[in-house]
Amino acid sequence: MRQRLIVGNWKMFTTAAKARRLAADVVEELGSETRVRVALCPPVPYLGIVGEVLSGTAVALGAQNVYPENEGAFTGEIGINMLLDLRCRYVIVGHSERRHTLGEDDRFINRKVVAALAAGLEVIACVGETLEQRRKRQTRACLESQLISALSGLTAEQVRHVVVAYEPVWAIGTGVNATPEQAQESAAEIRELVKERFGEESARALLILDGGSVNATNAATLMHLPDMDGGLIGHASLEADQFLSIVRSSL
Ligand code: PGA
Repeated sequence: MRQRLIVGNWKMFTTAAKARRLAADVVEELGSETRVRVALCPPVPYLGIVGEVLSGTAVALGAQNVYPENEGAFTGEIGINMLLDLRCRYVIVGHSERRHTLGEDDRFINRKVVAALAAGLEVIACVGETLEQRRKRQTRACLESQLISALSGLTAEQVRHVVVAYEPVWAIGTGVNATPEQAQESAAEIRELVKERFGEESARALLILDGGSVNATNAATLMHLPDMDGGLIGHASLEADQFLSIVRSSL
């Protein structure tokens, strides 16, 4: 049985004070919860603050992005060693907002996956089709090309440290979540693709998260689909009550 994982992606929201309070509220409720894994991914400037609040608790710290080097002349970027230094356990890679708004391509995303895993981080690799691709029945082809590219060069052992988030672009921040049928179908395809490339064991162990307008109302259904193992939660993770209710509904 795979242990569920619920990740809060705070995106470019919160202030230092709000980040501290939000993390403290989550910890107060879930600090010793071990039935489900929970991680919070604050904006980079607040990683240190949130890390302090999470320290010694069961709630893990994650980053929303990383540059695939430890250090160097890369103005404005965040090195892998910096995330380790701040005690991040997870890093989100290939998020749709970075692909489509910041122009990251599959090759760059793969470099991040490889470098982050080599350093010992757990990678949350995001994949998802646009509305146009879904309408043209290209969802599977899109998931396949993004996934195969993101995982290129990895061993089956390394894939065990990858979590895949299925986030249809049209569902992110829109209030229109994937239906349970769409989410399950895509999750099953992702698991099948991993099985083809990395074998049965890696596929069976793979955690797949649903993302895109997951909230306290729809989470109970989406988190319990046969191939879904949790959620990557954006806006609904910015209010402690909503986020905690999503975590509870995953139990
Ligand atoms: P949303 O974002 O829950 O606000 O749709 C999810 C995500 O982008 O990770």
